[in-house]
Amino acid sequence: MFSHETTRGKEEKVARIVIAGNWKMHKTIGESVVFASNLRETLADQADLPEIIVAPPFTALHAVSAVISGSSIALAAQNIHEADRGAFTGEISGLMAKEAGCSHVIIGHSERRTLFGETNERINRKLLTALAAGLNPIFCVGETLPEREENRIEEVIEKQLKEGLNNLDDSVISRILVAYEPVWAIGTGKTASPAQAQEVHDFIRSWTAGKYGKDAAEETVILYGGSVTPQNISALMSQPDINGALVGGASLQVESFVEIVKYKSNQGV
Ligand code: 13P
Repeated sequence: MFSHETTRGKEEKVARIVIAGNWKMHKTIGESVVFASNLRETLADQADLPEIIVAPPFTALHAVSAVISGSSIALAAQNIHEADRGAFTGEISGLMAKEAGCSHVIIGHSERRTLFGETNERINRKLLTALAAGLNPIFCVGETLPEREENRIEEVIEKQLKEGLNNLDDSVISRILVAYEPVWAIGTGKTASPAQAQEVHDFIRSWTAGKYGKDAAEETVILYGGSVTPQNISALMSQPDINGALVGGASLQVESFVEIVKYKSNQGV
């Protein structure tokens, strides 16, 4: 579908691999703490693990931060407001998320775009605020099913990237993780095939190379999200431009999340 050249040889893969769990509006503080302790314990002494990030609801951030402190598990907020403070009833700032222990924040998730009306322009302001607050954004892009069927994938993703990353200092691109989440694959059990995902990941990397240079593009972590499971993670990760996953449903149980995190040791099983 995409006519551009791939930016890298098919065998190469950047060293960083990141598996992130987006809990969405699930788990109480108590459940989050139990989950985080179990995860920490289960992963202790395991070698060759990817970078791991969990994104609990706001209420549980601080408590989870205490549980994972000193481990290699990182913490993400699921959203922030674009202002640092002010009269925005019900909102949370990047500085507050940072203070609660977050190193990362998910920005522009399709549920924020579709259910809460977030535009590319607003997402851009949130990205700038997150970076200024010292948070590393997990910047989500993805097409809807009608957009895919109308062959508009490239156009939609390009617009999301271009407008979302507007006015960004080139030097901060290394702090941004991009997550490709086709909207039709989220929570539906319909995962993109590894080849479908790779096509879009390759497009994202090529676009990044055009804007920020080849070296920056090669180092950009591009996650796939949408019905990732312990069963399909290995096939997805075998694609050259997939550097990890943003997992929803399957990140809610320690067992399935750990199976995804440990996909390398399960290969061929
Ligand atoms: P599911 O893994 O439940 O499809 O959710 C994906 C997602 O939206 C992660 O951000």
